[in-house]
Amino acid sequence: MPAQLIDGNLLSQQLRAEVAKRAAALTAQGKQPGLAVILVGDSPASQVYVRNKVKACQDNGLHSVLEKYEASMTEAELLARIDALNSDPKINGILVQLPLPAHIDAHKVIEAIAPEKDVDGFHVSNAGLLMTGQPLFRPCTPYGVMKMLESIDYPVRGANAVVVGASNIVGKPQAMLLLQAGATVTICNSKTRDLGHHTRQADILVVATGKRNIVTADMVKPGAVVIDVGMNRDDNGKLCGDVDFANAKDVAGWITPVPGGVGPMTITMLLVNTIEAAERC
Ligand code: GUN
Repeated sequence: MPAQLIDGNLLSQQLRAEVAKRAAALTAQGKQPGLAVILVGDSPASQVYVRNKVKACQDNGLHSVLEKYEASMTEAELLARIDALNSDPKINGILVQLPLPAHIDAHKVIEAIAPEKDVDGFHVSNAGLLMTGQPLFRPCTPYGVMKMLESIDYPVRGANAVVVGASNIVGKPQAMLLLQAGATVTICNSKTRDLGHHTRQADILVVATGKRNIVTADMVKPGAVVIDVGMNRDDNGKLCGDVDFANAKDVAGWITPVPGGVGPMTITMLLVNTIEAAERC
């Protein structure tokens, strides 16, 4: 029997309706939540992502500012903009779209964001709070994945979870959230020997590598939940994930499509984090 789809668009719609209500309540108190999105350079993919983030704010009653800069912007100029946004009372969340041009130290930039406005949850202080079980912000993509598991009432506690990919944006925080929810967690990375040996143990398999078809049907445990965080293009230029969806869907119990799976959830959880930041003010 083919897997059930976890529809990120549908779940996002439901969660965004709640976001809009909370945004309206804050606005009524004169505290409209506000997000600043900074894009440096002209990466086409990043342009689409930031446009979608700003549009989601507009559609749900959040104030948003999109600041676009040339790739030649200096690190000092970017740090100065962050400084200004840190003390802007209309702005509750600051998001600097990654990757940044090579001449800018992304680590330094993330550390310049006030932790209470770091809606990505990337600041070391927020990473530390997450690791010690007291998150201020959960990074948006892993947070969205947890909401997807919640939406199917999946019993995470005691489950074997395998995360493929160990990035600071997805893999590592994902592993922390799953661990906190009581899963036994394995993190695989690009040096992992015999990836399939690990993935076949997974009741919950989260794949976030940026490599098309890195997970094939024979690497999926029958009945598993397969969450595909990948965002790639196939040979025809069509959007696709990291999982061979066409075949893996006949083995998995649940699976997320690309597009229409994790992507919309990432943006939804960015809205949630911005609301949470505003509610704390
Ligand atoms: N680039 C890819 N994903 C993300 C994300 O979640 N946040 C930011 N700031 N940049 C990204």
